[in-house]
Amino acid sequence: MEINKVYLGDCINLMSQIVDKSIDLIFSDPPFNIGLKYENYSDNRSYDDYYSWSEKWIAQTHRILKDTGSIYIAIGDEFAAEINIILKKQGFYLRNWIIWYYTFGQNQRKKFNRAHTHILYFTKNKNKFIFNDEDIRVPSARQLIYKDKRANPKGKVPDDIWEFSRVCGTFKERIGNHPCQMPEKLLDRIIRTSSNKGDLVLDPFGGTGTTAAVAKKLERNYLTMDISEMYFDVITKRLNGQLAEIKRNIKKIEQNNIKQKTIFD
Ligand SMILES: C[S@@+](CC[C@H](N)C(=O)[O-])C[C@H]1O[C@@H](n2cnc3c(N)ncnc32)[C@H](O)[C@@H]1O
Repeated sequence: MEINKVYLGDCINLMSQIVDKSIDLIFSDPPFNIGLKYENYSDNRSYDDYYSWSEKWIAQTHRILKDTGSIYIAIGDEFAAEINIILKKQGFYLRNWIIWYYTFGQNQRKKFNRAHTHILYFTKNKNKFIFNDEDIRVPSARQLIYKDKRANPKGKVPDDIWEFSRVCGTFKERIGNHPCQMPEKLLDRIIRTSSNKGDLVLDPFGGTGTTAAVAKKLERNYLTMDISEMYFDVITKRLNGQLAEIKRNIKKIEQNNIKQKTIFD
């Protein structure tokens, strides 16, 4: 497969065409199996079907990752425990169970508001992996609150709870008509942490193309794919800087469709 390209099709089939140990970093945001409305994917599999499908695509990620590679999987409460087990069974090592706490969750009436997504961060090797701590430091409480002179002036490595706003409907970043667009800031942290310039970053569930767009901005190579022709087109246009055109097309689609339920509802 050619790098810096978007592919249309099923990720298991497409990943099976990638050579062994050729990818530096994988970010994967699969459908959470919670009944969302995607263009041509039914997010409503039986428990066993979703589990065995997850085993299949995760097996491919393990085969194509370099020995120094890292994988981050975004997943909801419903299957976080199962994905964690599958990753371990495939031979990956857990580095962090990150919680992405998103401000601007939507208010519920009959349960507590959903305001987080799990991001399971694993590496292929227990000891050898890329972790660019210098590139992702944030100001520490010692610096900001206590004004402690002993504080490292470069700040600290972020905690494992990450606070980033979700991409709300009114945000400039918002592509529209996709139920779970990830914020660029979240991908920025992951890609800076676990890859270097010129490395190859893969996202098997491209969606609106956030991973590829951020990888490109950070001078990494990318590979991404989606099973939907509409999202394939969105990603291609996003990577070519044709955002205005995407938004015009999506407005037309939205006029004929009911509003999408999102992962944050
Ligand atoms: C949760 S969304 C990804 C959102 C993405 N992270 C973003 O920022 O826009 C999951 C995507 O996976 C796609 N998808 C579902 N099944 C797939 C498959 N078997 N192969 C490739 N893509 C698939 C859906 O069309 C959907 O766009």
